[in-house]
Amino acid sequence: MSEKREVILSGIRPTGRLHYGNYFGAIQHFIRLQDEGQCCYYFIADYHALTTITEREDFYGQTIEMLRTYVACGLDPEKSVIYRQSDLPCTAELMLLLGMITNIGFLERGTTYKDKLTKLQEDPKSEGNPLSYGLLGYPVLMAADILIVRADKVPVGDDQRQHVEMACDIAQRFNSRFGDTLHVPHPVGRDALRLPGLDGASKMGKSEHNTLDLLDEPETVLKKIRGVETSTDPLPLEVESNDPDIIVPRMPGGVGVLYRLLHLLAPEEVYLDFVGKYRRKEKFYGTLKQTLAEYVSAFNAPIIERYNAPGNDEASVCDFLRANAKQVTPVALNMVERCRAAIGIGHSLYRA
Ligand code: TRP
Repeated sequence: MSEKREVILSGIRPTGRLHYGNYFGAIQHFIRLQDEGQCCYYFIADYHALTTITEREDFYGQTIEMLRTYVACGLDPEKSVIYRQSDLPCTAELMLLLGMITNIGFLERGTTYKDKLTKLQEDPKSEGNPLSYGLLGYPVLMAADILIVRADKVPVGDDQRQHVEMACDIAQRFNSRFGDTLHVPHPVGRDALRLPGLDGASKMGKSEHNTLDLLDEPETVLKKIRGVETSTDPLPLEVESNDPDIIVPRMPGGVGVLYRLLHLLAPEEVYLDFVGKYRRKEKFYGTLKQTLAEYVSAFNAPIIERYNAPGNDEASVCDFLRANAKQVTPVALNMVERCRAAIGIGHSLYRA
């Protein structure tokens, strides 16, 4: 007998080009859950992205580019329901309802909000976005995204975990006020691997300009990898372990990231061979970079090919976005109607 399928939901902000940090931190987990046959909802959080907008941005274009890359990596719009947050505008209504029962003090403890507040206090003249109502309400919008599809599990990276816990609190508060209506989900860690950036910084990120991208062609890959700083004298490794989680943090700057990537992409014996060279302090960074660049390019090649495949152009992506938005809309509207009924507003006459 097959077990009941779990409802999995996760959102990703539209950032356009996807990099190795995105792949190993999120995309590979999304694909695994999809291939396990769970009921997966993955959406592009374009409303959330508005908290950092400073001028007009091509959100639509970035969303399409991202979706084409997702499909190229193996996310399958036939198996997962992949949609755009703003194609489900009833999420905004649920956010409004949830916002009415959410204390400001509770939201002020949100990390995203607190970080921004601290930055502004340190530098009141700093350019960029205001401390907006939308930013304070960020976790309420996330709660609406999650609760509207009755998600059981929400895989997120560590930075988003608190927001998911807040969604659980908000759901519980709603239920204790208005009766059992919302399904309280579980946050699940993605065992998210945080990749260091090519500059040796602790995190690979688009705004840090230190990414290796999934659509990088071989010349770019080689150029980026050659540019990784390895001139610092290697510290002798004092650890016996071959585990990159133990080795990488002990290596200076860029050397660590080369080993981390090699471990992810190359066969074990190749990785271990280079660990041996490092321990013996041989001169080998040129070969290491060359070898790694080849593995990276081999990893990217099929993704680039599928990205450009005829069935993955803008028109095809729009088709599945539309179809998937249609599929999730009744699920979401049903939930909003149940919340309206629970509160006592009654059904929307417009929708009936
Ligand atoms: N805030 C998340 C991020 O920045 C994206 C997101 C929006 C999300 N809504 C969500 C993640 C709901 C999980 C569930 O990465």
